[in-house]
Amino acid sequence: MALKITVIGTGYLGATHAAAMAELGFEVMGLDVVPEKIDKLRRGEVPMYEPGLEELLRRHVAGIEGSTGRLRFTMDWAELGEFGDVHFVCVNTPQRHGEYACDMSYVDSAIASLAPHLKGPALVVGKSTVPVGSADRLAAYLAEHAPAGADAELAWNPEFLREGFAVQDTLHPDRIVVGVRSERSEKLLREVYATPIEEGSPFVVTDFPTAELVKTSANSFLATKISFINAMAELCEATGGDVAKLAEAIGYDDRIGRKFLRAGIGFGGGCLPKDIRAFMARAGELGADQALTFLREIDSINMRQRGRMVELTRQELGGGPFLGKRVAVLGATFKPDSDDVRDSPALNVAGQIHLQGGQVTVYDPKGMDNARSLFPTLGYADSALEAVRGAHVVLHLTEWREFRELDPAELGEAAAERVVLDGRNALDAEAWRRAGWRFRAMGRPGA
Ligand code: UDX
Repeated sequence: MALKITVIGTGYLGATHAAAMAELGFEVMGLDVVPEKIDKLRRGEVPMYEPGLEELLRRHVAGIEGSTGRLRFTMDWAELGEFGDVHFVCVNTPQRHGEYACDMSYVDSAIASLAPHLKGPALVVGKSTVPVGSADRLAAYLAEHAPAGADAELAWNPEFLREGFAVQDTLHPDRIVVGVRSERSEKLLREVYATPIEEGSPFVVTDFPTAELVKTSANSFLATKISFINAMAELCEATGGDVAKLAEAIGYDDRIGRKFLRAGIGFGGGCLPKDIRAFMARAGELGADQALTFLREIDSINMRQRGRMVELTRQELGGGPFLGKRVAVLGATFKPDSDDVRDSPALNVAGQIHLQGGQVTVYDPKGMDNARSLFPTLGYADSALEAVRGAHVVLHLTEWREFRELDPAELGEAAAERVVLDGRNALDAEAWRRAGWRFRAMGRPGA
């Protein structure tokens, strides 16, 4: 009989994982504790913007015309426990308020709610990003609290999906990492991932701590790459160099590689910033804090870029206060192809300028609702052109394709001053200059 799969938590990770499991042919049941989310998902609506996800979901959600009916949603733990052979835990682990450490309460409460309903052999698979050592603790909890006892096993299977590419990354992962304690767990997970394994995704089998560490170290490495190039951008600013050329030139070295070397206002989102902080906090608890002190510097280089963008804007406006200055901000999300504004560098810059008296008008292709609820006091426009109308300076802060395709000449007619600052090193400087704009990008003072 085909395996039955459940997915606990239906955010970016869980909703995508549930739909992907149905696409791979499994019967799937998703659970969330937020009734509005479940209502939406049952109608085949995705609670956030993620390219391709709604189509995938609608292809499988039971009750939708023409769907396979393989994907259902519930809020009932007993039904979920009864249904599944393999239970994926996909709830979030945000940064704890006022601390670096991560908040494990959603993971803990998911496991506590599930455990009493595991009456027969079951595999619980953690996907959430957790502090190393959590899997060990949760496995012991399950063995003690599940009626199935030792037959309720745990495995750890970190998720590497990128927002904006979540569907592709889930269906065709570049690697599958599983931390397991038994052959049975490994066999079950090989069955779950049979299709991507056949397609060639490497399947790495390891222990709990390694599986947990793979995720946090991968994100730390990515954060380090970005902060490295932003540190080089600071040096380029000081010397007249061009960080985009520098990144291209060092990137031709295969050992360095070109990816994740785009200088600008830095990284944000629901993962990289909180993951490196939680990693430092955990290392401290383990008495290994020295090993990760470099991440403190990575974090501070990153946060500094937001302030540098504010100062660059001030300089371009003549160096004084922002009072009476109209600033157009293109982009609110932490990256393109997402509606996620969590710890968004773009909104942070917009907010700082607003708090210093600037009149900021923001436009984003998908992040407007989320931005408005986080920063209701900023001005918002319905299009890039409207945001730019009457502006003394235009800031490009999230590299949406829509912004690269803007017509600088048309925008120039609407702006009060033709000054544009590229905080993502993604616009075509020449095209803007040809249209009469003064163009300035971070880390490229002379370019
Ligand atoms: C990240 C990891 O990439 C993913 O593997 C993990 O599972 C979750 O965290 P995500 O948060 O979706 O994914 O974003 P990512 O594409 O990594 O970008 C993070 C931030 O870095 C964005 O704000 C982006 O704008 C910024 N970035 C990225 C740069 O500033 N420069 C770059 O060269 C690349």
